[in-house]
Amino acid sequence: MRKVPFVNLGKQYEGMKDEIDQAISRVLKSGHFILGEEVLRFEEELAQSTGVKHVIGVSNGTDALVLAFKALGVGSGDEVITPAFSFFASAEAVASWGGKPVFVDIDPEDFNIKVDRIEGKITEKTKAILPVHLYGNPADMESLMNVAQKHNLKVIEDTAQALGAEVGGRKVGTIGDAGTISFFPTKNLGGFGDGGAILTNDSRIAEEVRLLRVHGAKKKYFHEKVGFNHRLDALQAAILRAKLPYLDGWNEKRREIAEKYSERLKDTVTIPSIQKGKLHIFHQYTIRTPRRNELKEFLEERGIGAIVNYPLPIHLQPAFSHLCHQEGDFPESEKASQEVLSLPIYPEMTEEEVDYVSKSVQEFFQD
Ligand SMILES: Cc1ncc(COP(=O)(O)O)c(C=O)c1O
Repeated sequence: MRKVPFVNLGKQYEGMKDEIDQAISRVLKSGHFILGEEVLRFEEELAQSTGVKHVIGVSNGTDALVLAFKALGVGSGDEVITPAFSFFASAEAVASWGGKPVFVDIDPEDFNIKVDRIEGKITEKTKAILPVHLYGNPADMESLMNVAQKHNLKVIEDTAQALGAEVGGRKVGTIGDAGTISFFPTKNLGGFGDGGAILTNDSRIAEEVRLLRVHGAKKKYFHEKVGFNHRLDALQAAILRAKLPYLDGWNEKRREIAEKYSERLKDTVTIPSIQKGKLHIFHQYTIRTPRRNELKEFLEERGIGAIVNYPLPIHLQPAFSHLCHQEGDFPESEKASQEVLSLPIYPEMTEEEVDYVSKSVQEFFQD
């Protein structure tokens, strides 16, 4: 049987084995494994490629969120407005320091926070908005920043899935007070383990994050604050440095594959929409159909990996039962969780693989 896995990280490695092996060997020979020169260089290179003043490499995308909130002074008892439909880590990062995630429904058109619902959720405890650029598609940052400015709220962009995406000609993650990135291996820029970063144009936030990332110490064994151990490894930084120059090309390749899928599937399922002024980098190619579960099974029987991101919206997760949400509170998020299905998409996919997946989806609906 043919196989098209949901992701194929081995194929990416094969295509750049020498560069990766050299990067790894450089670190092994240096004997320096945490932060240091590799991380500094990576931070500079990522800052240059995104056009942001500061990049701070950290342990993962979840810790990046925690550090960003802490550096911005958002703390226990504060409310943060965030979409009900995302990976759990977005709201989890808020709750982890005693903050309260306040959910807003998504726009079914792009799966991102419905900006015109934000104002209705603002209270005197609201300190920040946490939009998520879901699947690699930018949220509507212009209107969101207007709401934030009007109400004097901080904005942290959860850019875990969207490094390289743009809205209004600007890279996402560089528009709010801070943006957070994940380098989880399957991300468009992925390490060989966990990794993350914070992007900011604010020197004060950058300095604070750098301090908090290493136990609140500027100088070893002298601690100005109680911080964390949220450091990025040199090995991850070296691997990410080797991959970074390819990111734009990989994102372009993903867009080409998305275009092919959309052309073939547009009459069969709801395809992802591409909105004016936005550069979607297709971390996921996510379709919608009320027959989602059957389709997923059908594709799996044909050796095709397809994934549901995400089967339960955050407001209905047992971990947030104390917030007393019920089914029906955020109908678009709930509907999306019943209908979405992400198809395989990665730059190394062959024309034949894209054909096979598209034809299999079409075949399912011919029955
Ligand atoms: C939207 C979103 N936020 C946060 C994270 C957390 O990133 P990490 O897994 O690197 O902690 C992820 C990871 O998948 C994510 O997709």
